[in-house]
Amino acid sequence: MKAAVCTAYGGPDVVEVRDVPAPIAKPDEVLIRVFASTVASGDARVRGARFPKGFGLLGRLFLGLTRPRTPILGTELAGVVEAVGAKVKRYRPGDEVFAFSGVGMGCHAELKAMPEDGPIALIPGGFTHGEAAAISFGGTTALYFLRNLADVQPGERVLINGASGAVGSAAVQLARHFGAHVTGVCSAANAGLVRSLGADEVIDYAEADFARCDARWDVILDTVGNASFARCRKALAEKGRLFLLVADLGDLLRAPLQSWASGLKVAGGTAPERAQDIEALKILCEMGAFKPVIDSRFPLDRIAEAHARSDSQRKVGSIVVKIGSVGSE
Ligand SMILES: NC(=O)c1ccc[n+]([C@@H]2O[C@H](COP(=O)([O-])OP(=O)(O)OC[C@H]3O[C@@H](n4cnc5c(N)ncnc54)[C@H](OP(=O)(O)O)[C@@H]3O)[C@@H](O)[C@H]2O)c1
Repeated sequence: MKAAVCTAYGGPDVVEVRDVPAPIAKPDEVLIRVFASTVASGDARVRGARFPKGFGLLGRLFLGLTRPRTPILGTELAGVVEAVGAKVKRYRPGDEVFAFSGVGMGCHAELKAMPEDGPIALIPGGFTHGEAAAISFGGTTALYFLRNLADVQPGERVLINGASGAVGSAAVQLARHFGAHVTGVCSAANAGLVRSLGADEVIDYAEADFARCDARWDVILDTVGNASFARCRKALAEKGRLFLLVADLGDLLRAPLQSWASGLKVAGGTAPERAQDIEALKILCEMGAFKPVIDSRFPLDRIAEAHARSDSQRKVGSIVVKIGSVGSE
């Protein structure tokens, strides 16, 4: 099968499309023919070995010392079930599915095997393969931080810093769905989009610093990495919660003490890959509460360009990679 193989840590050109052995489904696995995937910020981060400060050595120990241990990147996919293992009951060949392999990666390939009880669900009605492939990375992250950690309540004021990225654009939509009053922080160019996703207010970061406004927020979700507790302290309401999605080691070590000393909540961490979250996102998509924003589309043989676009840190939503010639964009 064809796959994009990351041969080393480095720039976009370390990714090469090659023929590699196809996976075979184990008894409890489904084999998915992949029609679409994405080059998420996580893929570009792994390829470039760009780990948050303090995580350089840990990142390489976990992901591979001199090159990615899992050379086929790609955290999310959409496609069709091609074959199922002998014990599989939930899926049949021909089922149209989307899935989130997360740190397990491997979605930049024509075929991907995944456990049937893993983060897989049927594609929401009306979604193309490209749209379905872009649900999981931003969607699971936004869901985990806003619902599980922040427990956002109707009427609360939620600020999303980095509201136009894959995570931010999902977070704006989900915070709105949870009944929050949503403020999105983005560039002027993306203000209209962020409003259209459900933000009640938009702050252009080139014009104003949200942390110095008179307003206060119950929840601040930082998807950029420039909203430390020291910066945000005065922008948090009583019982406010600050979530640092791009926390460095120092931020994570300081967070419990900052929470204890201030009576506020400061937390970082990594969103997990859970089957129930993928199922929840499917339902949210079908309700019209969430639709991923697509930045651009590239065929697999131009995946290096997709990595370069992700490296720009200017992408708006997700970059879709189209694999094979059958799937819908
Ligand atoms: N902790 C976790 O579990 C977790 C999970 C997923 C991702 N992440 C991390 O979260 C971060 C965001 O991921 P992503 O996929 O959403 O990234 P992304 O799609 O690459 O984000 C790009 C967006 O960032 C915006 N941006 C850049 N600088 C900004 C600034 N100073 N203020 C506000 N917005 C700014 C850009 O908007 P403009 O062009 O308008 O500036 C662009 O639309 C990444 O670092 C990723 O590694 C963490």
